[in-house]
Amino acid sequence: MKDVKGKVAFITGGASGMGLGMARAFAAAGMKVMIGDIEAGPAQKAVDELKGKGLEAACVQVDVSNMESVQAAAAKTVETFGKVHVISNNAGVAVGGYSESCSMRNWKWVVDVNLWGVVYGLQAFVPLIQSHGEGGHVISTASMAGMVGLRGAGPYNATKFAVVGMMETFAADHRKDNIGASVLCPGIVATNIGHSGRNRPEEYGGAVAPSEKDRTAEMLAQGLNPDIVGDLVLEAMQADQFYIFTDPGLKHLIETRCKRIVDGYDWAANCNALKGVKQSGMLPG
Ligand SMILES: NC(=O)c1ccc[n+]([C@@H]2O[C@H](COP(=O)([O-])OP(=O)(O)OC[C@H]3O[C@@H](n4cnc5c(N)ncnc54)[C@H](O)[C@@H]3O)[C@@H](O)[C@H]2O)c1
Repeated sequence: MKDVKGKVAFITGGASGMGLGMARAFAAAGMKVMIGDIEAGPAQKAVDELKGKGLEAACVQVDVSNMESVQAAAAKTVETFGKVHVISNNAGVAVGGYSESCSMRNWKWVVDVNLWGVVYGLQAFVPLIQSHGEGGHVISTASMAGMVGLRGAGPYNATKFAVVGMMETFAADHRKDNIGASVLCPGIVATNIGHSGRNRPEEYGGAVAPSEKDRTAEMLAQGLNPDIVGDLVLEAMQADQFYIFTDPGLKHLIETRCKRIVDGYDWAANCNALKGVKQSGMLPG
């Protein structure tokens, strides 16, 4: 979507970190920005900041893990700005731990926010983007953890791989429509994600501070400025760039993964079980 001026964007998790970076970049480019976040106070603060610069912004409290809440936020966006062109499914939480031993409550929480949150965003907003025929763009925030398996982060990895897969399919499904698609796969960015537990609802065990041993917040503080990611996402949206990486220096991780996958095919081509077996070479779709 080259021409963004006057277009409307809804950004989940827009009160902090990369979502706030996107809100700043999109608004500075002349877009009308609706910030959706579970934290009402910081969302309003972000709106005040943008309005103070003469930019157009509003906010709505939303819990992306709840379909009705996302639908209500979509209705509020249309009520406020008339239509919506861009959805950024960005809200997410970080949960560390091994798939086999992570508490089920944390497993469910990370899936409900990071995976179902994206599904609900697509379900609520894509029909609204399609309804006006002016086109638009869908961005979902995955992670490098959606590109390569990171040790000790099985549940988080599972959600981020799912988002990458969903967005690859979404892009293919909408190739001929006037709706672009991007998946943001950041490396380390200096945000508040290390303190995600501040927003863990009661049903998943309630709010929790990082343990004393947890060095995530310190490591993240060394990361990229999230405002740069905001500018990057805007540039990618205007260039219709699908994969958005924040750290080109991590390319070798993808190359290593791709080589391991290709090696898997080479192994299959020479294994006993498939010897002489005739196959169609086709896949559905
Ligand atoms: N920071 C990093 O290094 C990094 C790297 C890769 C991917 N990511 C991803 O980037 C995205 C943005 O995170 P961030 O790093 O900017 O962190 P952040 O904590 O600074 O921002 C996340 C925002 O999401 C909001 N949020 C949390 N749960 C929510 C819910 N249920 N409904 C609505 N809003 C909710 C939070 O209140 C917060 O404002 C996440 O999807 C995260 O997984 C972050």
